[in-house]
Amino acid sequence: MVDTYIRKGLYAASLPLIPGGEAAGTIEELAADIKDFKVGDRVVYVMPPGTPGAYSERRVIEARHLLPIPDGISDDIAAASLLKGLTAWTLVRKTYPVKSCDTIMVYAAAGGVGSILCQWAHHIGARVIGVVGSAAKILSARQNGCTEVIDRSQQDIVATVRKLTDGQGVPVVYDSLGKDTFEQSLDCLRPTGLMISYGNATGAVPPVNILTLMQKGSLFLTRPQFFHYLRQPEVFQQAVGELFELIKTGRLRVHIGRRFPLREAAQAHAAAESTLTIGSTILLP
Ligand SMILES: NC(=O)c1ccc[n+]([C@@H]2O[C@H](COP(=O)([O-])OP(=O)(O)OC[C@H]3O[C@@H](n4cnc5c(N)ncnc54)[C@H](OP(=O)(O)O)[C@@H]3O)[C@@H](O)[C@H]2O)c1
Repeated sequence: MVDTYIRKGLYAASLPLIPGGEAAGTIEELAADIKDFKVGDRVVYVMPPGTPGAYSERRVIEARHLLPIPDGISDDIAAASLLKGLTAWTLVRKTYPVKSCDTIMVYAAAGGVGSILCQWAHHIGARVIGVVGSAAKILSARQNGCTEVIDRSQQDIVATVRKLTDGQGVPVVYDSLGKDTFEQSLDCLRPTGLMISYGNATGAVPPVNILTLMQKGSLFLTRPQFFHYLRQPEVFQQAVGELFELIKTGRLRVHIGRRFPLREAAQAHAAAESTLTIGSTILLP
C-alpha cells in the first residue's frame, strides 16, 4: 500500500522516482572494501522513508542497508515479509506491547501487515478481533489467529466489538484504514485505551479535535512510523531476528496472495487499491 501512497502524492517524494522501498535479491558485485558479504549472497532490505528504488532488476546499494536472508527463508518470503513484519513487530512489541490477557482489534486482518500482526498477537496469547472488508476474507483472518472476525460490509463494528467485550471496549485498536474508520475505532476503545492509526488505506485522517479524546474516555492517540522505533541498530537487529526466527520455525506464516511481473507494477497497484488482495503482493523482475 505504501507505494501507492507515494505514487498518489499522499507521501512526499521528489521526481524522478523509481518506486519501491523493499526488495530481496542476490549480490552480483561488491566494492573492494566490503567484507561482510560475498558475491552470490541472498539479501533483503527495507529502505528508510524517502529513499525508494526497489522497482528495478539491478541496483547499486550501500551494504549497510542489506540483511542476509537466512537459510530456510525464500527470497519471495523475505521480500514479502521484511517491511510488513518489522511494522507488525513495532506495533505489537513497542507501540502497544500486547499481553496475553489482552483483547485487541485489528483492521485489514487478512492483509499484508494485518495478517502478520494478527498472527504475532495470537502467538503472544492475545485474543484478536479482526476486521475485514468482505466475507471472502473471513477464513484468512481466522487462519491468522483471529478468534472473532467482523465483516465490516455486513456488521456494525462498534456494536459488535462492544458485544464481544461485555460493553467494555478494547484497550487498543490497530487501524490501518485511516479516514473512514477513525471515529468508529475511537468508539471501540475502553476508557484510557490507545488508538493506533498506522495507515491511510481509505485516505488520511483529517485534523482531530483533541477534546474528542477526553469525551470518548481519556483516550490516547498515536500515529506511528516503524522506522522511528527501529532507529537504534540493536533494536532493528532484535526485530529482524525475532521476525526471521518466527518465520523459520513456522510460527509465522507469510502468505503471498498475488505475484506480478515487475513490468505489471501498475496492475499490482490497482490490485492493492481494489481491496481484493489477501496477504502480501510481490513484484518479480
Ligand atoms: N506506519 C507504518 O510504519 C507502516 C508501515 C507499513 C505499512 N503501513 C500501513 O499498513 C497498512 C497495510 O499495508 P499493506 O501493504 O499490508 O496493505 P493491505 O493491508 O494488504 O491492503 C490494504 C487493505 O486495506 C483495506 N482497505 C479498506 N479500504 C481500502 C481502500 N479504499 N483502498 C485500499 N485498501 C483498503 C483492505 O482490507 P479489507 O478489505 O479487509 O478492509 C485492503 O486489503 C497500510 O495502510 C500501510 O500504509 C504502515
